[in-house]
Amino acid sequence: MLKRIRKSALLCIIPIAFTLTTATAQADSDSSLYSRLGGFDAISAVVDDVVLQIAADEKLGRFWAHRGDDGITREKQLIVDFVVAKAGGPLYYTGREMKLSHKGMRISQQDWDTLITALKNTLGKFGVPARESQEVLEFFDSTRADIVEKP
Ligand code: HEM
Repeated sequence: MLKRIRKSALLCIIPIAFTLTTATAQADSDSSLYSRLGGFDAISAVVDDVVLQIAADEKLGRFWAHRGDDGITREKQLIVDFVVAKAGGPLYYTGREMKLSHKGMRISQQDWDTLITALKNTLGKFGVPARESQEVLEFFDSTRADIVEKP
């Protein structure tokens, strides 16, 4: 009798365990881009690395030249907040919209391409997987029309 109960209990547990395992795997792959990227610290490190590269760029450096350290720190924090919020993370973006904050800077398509090259470098350097890299690139691309200005 005991043997039969043990056997039938085992037969019940196996499908439950299987369902839980597949449900967890499903939740992982369905979780927010924010979680899949590794959360706040990972996004912050990516933003820092991209800003470092473009601020050092011969052409893009003009946007950060002669700006105070604190102004740059504040701007980086706003970019992190913006990306975290858009990626489904637990932050509320309090900065200005992309069109308003970049209007009049004369950011060209060439400037944009330099930014995307820097971003791709960073995603590769940090080992961000293909799916997440693609989503980050698509997200950046969704802001392009508000940032790049016609000459
Ligand atoms: C080549 C492309 C870009 C350049 C040259 C650029 C440059 C700048 C500069 C100079 C500022 C400071 C503005 C100010 O102090 O008034 C700024 C602000 C900001 N940028 Fe960009 N940016 C670029 C692309 C992007 C992209 C792709 C994003 C988002 C993914 C972004 C997000 C922000 C945010 C959130 C702020 C702060 C807005 C605020 O002050 O309220 N930028 N950007």
